[in-house]
Amino acid sequence: MNCCQPSTATLGTNKFFSRQSKRYLKRFRKGGLAREQQYLIEGILSAGVTGKSILDIGCGIGGIHFTLLKQGALSAIGVEISQGMLDSAKQLSKELGFEKQTSYLRGDFVEMDGQVSQADITVLDKVVCCYENLDALLTASLEKTRNIYALSFPKPTFWIKLFIHIPITLGRLLRWSFRPYWHDWNGMVQMIEEKGFTQRYQKETFLWAVRVFEKK
Ligand SMILES: C[S@@+](CC[C@H](N)C(=O)[O-])C[C@H]1O[C@@H](n2cnc3c(N)ncnc32)[C@H](O)[C@@H]1O
Repeated sequence: MNCCQPSTATLGTNKFFSRQSKRYLKRFRKGGLAREQQYLIEGILSAGVTGKSILDIGCGIGGIHFTLLKQGALSAIGVEISQGMLDSAKQLSKELGFEKQTSYLRGDFVEMDGQVSQADITVLDKVVCCYENLDALLTASLEKTRNIYALSFPKPTFWIKLFIHIPITLGRLLRWSFRPYWHDWNGMVQMIEEKGFTQRYQKETFLWAVRVFEKK
C-alpha cells in the first residue's frame, strides 16, 4: 500500500458510513442523543467540562461534541473517515452556532499523528468496533488525552458477541467493503488502565458498554 493512499478498509468505512450519514442526521434532529450517548455525556459531565477541549474520534454527525459544547466545553475537534458524516457535522455546527469552536479533520485518526493536538477529553463513541487495529487506535488516542477518556463499545457478553458475529461473518464471506470487528474488550479496558487511567464511570444499555476513565 502506498503511504498516502487510503487503505481498502478506510475506503469501505467511508462508503458505508457516508451512506448512513443522512439517517444519523435525521435521527439526531428528531430524537437527540441515543441512550448510550446520554450515558457518555453523563459520565463526562461528572468530571466537569467547563473550558475543556474535546477530541471526538469517529465523531459521526457530532452529537456528542455539540452537547458538550452546549454544556460549557471550550472547543472540539471532530475526526472522521466518512466524508458524509463530516459534511453533516459541519452543517450542524453552523446551524447550532458552533463554527468558531469546532474544527474537523477527514481521515483515519491512526494515520494523522502530527495533525492532531492533545485534548482534555477524548471520546470514541461506537468507534472501536469499526476499526481493525484496536491497539493502534487505543495507543494513538490515549497519547492525545490529557484528562478524560470516554468510550462506548459492544457489551462483552456471549449473546452480544453472537449477534455482532452475524455481520462479521457475512461481511467476510460476501467481501463487504465494511464490516464490524469484535475485539477483546476486557483486554482493551485493561490496556487503558495500564496507561495510567482509572475508571470513574460505567453504565450499559442492551447492546453497548459505556466507560469513562480519568488520568490524574
Ligand atoms: C458507528 S459510527 C459512530 C459515529 C458516532 N460516534 C455516533 O455514535 O453517532 C463509527 C464512526 O467511526 C468512524 N471511524 C471508524 N474508525 C475511525 C478512525 N480510525 N478514524 C476516524 N474515524 C473512524 C466511522 O467512519 C464512523 O463514522
